[in-house]
Amino acid sequence: TQIGKGGHRHFMAKEIAEQPSVISDVLGHYTKTGTRIDMPAELPDFAQIDRLILVACGTAFYACQTAKYWFEQLTGLPVDIDIASEFRYRSPPIGPRTAALFVSQSGETADTLAALRYCAGKADHILSICNVPQSSIARESTVALPTLAGVEIGVASTKAFTCQLTVLALLALHAARQRGHCDDATLAEHLTALRGLPGLLNLALGQEAEIETVSRELAEARDILFLGRGAMYPIALEGALKLKEISYIHAEGYASGELKHGPIALVDPAVPVIVFAPTDPLFDKTVSNMQEVMARQGKVLLVSDATGLDTAGPGSWATIQMPHVSPFLAPILYAIPAQLLAYHTAVAKGTDVDQPRNLAKSVTVE
Ligand code: G6P
Repeated sequence: TQIGKGGHRHFMAKEIAEQPSVISDVLGHYTKTGTRIDMPAELPDFAQIDRLILVACGTAFYACQTAKYWFEQLTGLPVDIDIASEFRYRSPPIGPRTAALFVSQSGETADTLAALRYCAGKADHILSICNVPQSSIARESTVALPTLAGVEIGVASTKAFTCQLTVLALLALHAARQRGHCDDATLAEHLTALRGLPGLLNLALGQEAEIETVSRELAEARDILFLGRGAMYPIALEGALKLKEISYIHAEGYASGELKHGPIALVDPAVPVIVFAPTDPLFDKTVSNMQEVMARQGKVLLVSDATGLDTAGPGSWATIQMPHVSPFLAPILYAIPAQLLAYHTAVAKGTDVDQPRNLAKSVTVE
């Protein structure tokens, strides 16, 4: 069957807009009763695991990087993350009681598949999170968790990313529960927050007009920096990746705390600095990094909630308002402005958004 753009100008725009609905599907699939998390019985008992390894490429790797924060905080499990092309050739030691989890939209990325095959027979459990259920990576893993994003056509991944994040968040909660780190009441709170996620994503999508306006100015830049702390750091990396992929503007994502160890040297009025800063326990630290940028005439675009914008908005070049969200779910919500900024900057530049030059949807050769 032919998939259309559903009235959107590009597949990417359609896929961004679909996120509230596909994430509802993910939540429905993995929390059928609404009071517990439904995971396949073949998954390992996470109480019997001492180490988790997450491996992927590109945007799927940033989902893994975000999940490291969740798994470490919620489950106490040590988590290693790696990009597949490095992991596969490093001969990394895989000890007992290890689960290896591979994340891939296509399930056919050559390096991720090779990393999986390296772990087969070494790790106790080979798990995957794929968007294509009959793919090689899904077939070669013991347990394959579907992301249920539906077909993704835009080369730059959007809805597959937020669905990967949602499945990873659910898996982290499931593991936390098995490891005795999450009681009934805490789980119920998390599930309530998750049920609110599609509504919050809709509110974030509602900021599209403001994002489009600011993107017209971003389109004039030659270099753009993205900053975030904690679980927002991988979202800064994803924002930079998405922007360079489709607008061809050079962009770098940085952990806010690393600013003074290099990238601050780039700051001048011609380099916009996009800061993802929900009000969370690290908010004040991010704001002080942002002030260091503004003190050097840097143009800050602050993406935060109403409270954050009240405290830190004045003095910034532009602001984008997000709804309030629990720090746990903030990375999923803030993926939306990251995607929309890249999308509208690319549209303003007139690039081929759905088929950016030199890029493939699925990299099946090395
Ligand atoms: C390519 C795509 C990216 C994707 C990456 C990993 O680079 O252009 O959008 O994130 O491959 O692909 P996968 O299918 O394994 O998630």
